[in-house]
Amino acid sequence: MSDESRTDAAELSAEATLRPASLGEYIGQVEAKRSLTTLLQAARERGEAADHLLLHGPPGLGKTTLAAIVAKELGVEIRFTSGPAIEHGGQMAAILTDLTPRQVLFIDEIHRLGRAVEEVLYPAMEDRSIDIVIGNRGSAQSLRLDIAPFTLIGATTRVGMLSSPLRDRFGAVQRLDFYDDADLAAIVRRSAGILGIEIAGDAAALIAACSRGTPRVANRLLRRVRDEVQVAGSSNITVEAAAQALQGLQIDEVGLDATDRKLLTVMIEKFNGGPVGVAAMAALLGESTDALEDVFEPYLLRIGFIDRTPQGRVVTEAARAHLGKDSASLWGKR
Ligand SMILES: Nc1ncnc2c1ncn2[C@@H]1O[C@H](COP(=O)(O)OP(=O)(O)O)[C@@H](O)[C@H]1O
Ligand SMILES: [Mg+2]
Repeated sequence: MSDESRTDAAELSAEATLRPASLGEYIGQVEAKRSLTTLLQAARERGEAADHLLLHGPPGLGKTTLAAIVAKELGVEIRFTSGPAIEHGGQMAAILTDLTPRQVLFIDEIHRLGRAVEEVLYPAMEDRSIDIVIGNRGSAQSLRLDIAPFTLIGATTRVGMLSSPLRDRFGAVQRLDFYDDADLAAIVRRSAGILGIEIAGDAAALIAACSRGTPRVANRLLRRVRDEVQVAGSSNITVEAAAQALQGLQIDEVGLDATDRKLLTVMIEKFNGGPVGVAAMAALLGESTDALEDVFEPYLLRIGFIDRTPQGRVVTEAARAHLGKDSASLWGKR
């Protein structure tokens, strides 16, 4: 999982090919699809820009994909930017004045917008206007400028880090949750179809089970398993071939890789199972605390391998039992 937060060039182009282009193609997330359908329909009926929408949840669950789908279904263009990319209020103002009517503005990692930049957004979201200060100290004048009606879609892995004035200005807030294995298997089969890979149903289910509830991971594992199978001189993925490839990648039956297991093992052996502070855990992995909390931790929490306590994180009995199995027995049933 150590590379889960990174997306290289090959990954980005694969993602673009595999990205569903309509709500109909978007697998799972029934709740999110239902509320987006309503949002889109209301916008169409009023002939207005759709409400501002905040999407939150762990990385790789389909936030960027959904934003692009919303724009497509509205028949408008989407402009992509991100919190860290907008350095000052003037840059935000320039982006906003450049929007065409009903356009979608997507701000990824919106929790990382600076306070001054956020303040430019407030009147834009509320009254479709921005305040510009002209002149300099002493003779400065504030000027209100109208901008085109637009839809802001914000995405974040950390909804708790959003300031409340910003969060309150979104008409709709939608959380994306980890996918279940059936949805992930459907995603693997869909992706295999697009990539021209032959895969058995049980092999797709096996990859799904190892995908940490995350479509981005499912697609990545599919491609890596395909590579392994191809190098071994075969062209279709059977369940045996998939199991062997996953084992070769040191990914176990619940989707943990060598890094996850090392983290848990060190927590047990050096820290007596915890509590271990987030900063210490991040240091063990050689990662930032942000990466630990956004990428590494949510899945371990979700499968009940670690618990949060006020003093730090603790390793659970379930994790100890899992690590106690020897690796051959994990895949031995196959
Ligand atoms: N519901 C879904 N159905 C099919 N594929 C999906 C779905 N959600 C995400 N994906 C796939 O996972 C990849 C990662 O999704 P993305 O929108 O980039 O995640 P996020 O922005 O939340 O990190 C996409 O390229 C897409 O191929
Ligand atoms: Mg994204």
